[in-house]
Amino acid sequence: MSERANFGSKMGVILAASGSAVGLGNIWRFPCMVGENGGAAFILVYILCVMFLGVPVMVSEFLIGRRAKTNAIEAYSKLAPGTPWIWIGITGVAAAFLILSYYGVVAGWTLEYTVASAVGELSGAKDYTAFFNDFVSNPWKPVLYMAVFILLTHIVVVRGVREGIEKFSKIMMPLLLLIICVLVGCSFSLSGFEEGAAFLLRPDFSKVTNKVILDAMGQAFFSMSIGMGCLCTYASYFSKDTDLMKTAGSVATIDTLVALLGGFIIFPAVFSVPGLSADAGAGLVFITLPNVFHLIFQNVPWLGYIFSLMFYVLLMLAALTSTISLHEVSTAYIHERLKWSRKKAAWAVTAGCIFLGVFCALSFGVLSEIKLFDLTIFDLFDFVTAKLIMPLGGMFISIFTGWYLERSIVKAEVTNEGKLKIPFFKFYIFLLKFVAPVCIGLIFINELFK
Ligand code: PHE
Repeated sequence: MSERANFGSKMGVILAASGSAVGLGNIWRFPCMVGENGGAAFILVYILCVMFLGVPVMVSEFLIGRRAKTNAIEAYSKLAPGTPWIWIGITGVAAAFLILSYYGVVAGWTLEYTVASAVGELSGAKDYTAFFNDFVSNPWKPVLYMAVFILLTHIVVVRGVREGIEKFSKIMMPLLLLIICVLVGCSFSLSGFEEGAAFLLRPDFSKVTNKVILDAMGQAFFSMSIGMGCLCTYASYFSKDTDLMKTAGSVATIDTLVALLGGFIIFPAVFSVPGLSADAGAGLVFITLPNVFHLIFQNVPWLGYIFSLMFYVLLMLAALTSTISLHEVSTAYIHERLKWSRKKAAWAVTAGCIFLGVFCALSFGVLSEIKLFDLTIFDLFDFVTAKLIMPLGGMFISIFTGWYLERSIVKAEVTNEGKLKIPFFKFYIFLLKFVAPVCIGLIFINELFK
């Protein structure tokens, strides 16, 4: 009998795992990328990456975590003792720690925008570009909001898997989905709805370049929280009758739907204002949108107030359920490896991430001149984790499950010791053995020799 914590229900599992997946990646990064890469063609490539690369790797992480029933690093040393496979775990935990440090900065921005919306600072005509730039380059505000955000995360994580993560996800995820539905409903009535929908749904295949493919794959991995320690850690709390394939399918579906719905909230609004471009990059959500909210609701300012407040609350909640999963990866490792209490381990992670987060937060202002390989500290963290560790992690995880792990173990996990019928098992193995490693490898090499 293990006394290890576990999730209490199937719903809790799906909501916690999709809480990890649904985040700034869906509502901030995905629309930016769709805008920059020309709309529907990118979305199509993205969906293919989710189905044929993302889902199989997700199932693999689930099975590794549940089989080993321990943190992401020790999972590999348990399933492959004395081998270099442990590096998947080590880089995974390191990635979670680094991602939390820079993700916490943007999460902090969402908190500041929520507060600004609530006190009415985000309504009326204003130079929102200056508003954003002044805020992110301020020497203490972004640091403060980042620290508060990581502390909020801490409060949930410290309560444990069932009482903290699961309970919180069960309340927040339905609330988040409700807000999305309300906002999408509102965006139907906007004058730019048709143009926005066409931008998202009508693909222009001439736009599918190598860059689009690489971006789509990187985004799919980031958005699904794949290739680092998160899913493996959460899966170590799954019970023996969690259906891994079904869970992965549900999480991927929820994650992709939320990203698309995020697009359906943002682009119709953007296209409702003549002359605005969808290609605004990172500023889309923090600069373009406040402008748009102000302009389209000029005659009914209270509606603009509500729309904007709901939008930033949504962004903040989505970020919080993701930071929780990032925090848990390192907390679980420290707690189990060093045998520290959960509380002490969580404090160590919180303190460490806030420390690194300070540098990331300031890299938009006083530290913006500090660069390595021409990247600011924030961009460097993003590059190392989202562009290197996560896709490479995904590749090695598929090789590990497809080629190294005994087939009987893989089968036992995926079928819950023979209780479930899995019609696509052979196809799943084929994807893991050949398709995922080759595709990810090719996309990488192509990028390297560009
Ligand atoms: N998937 C999250 C998002 O879309 C980000 C994340 C990445 C969370 C990796 C956990 C692990 O925002």
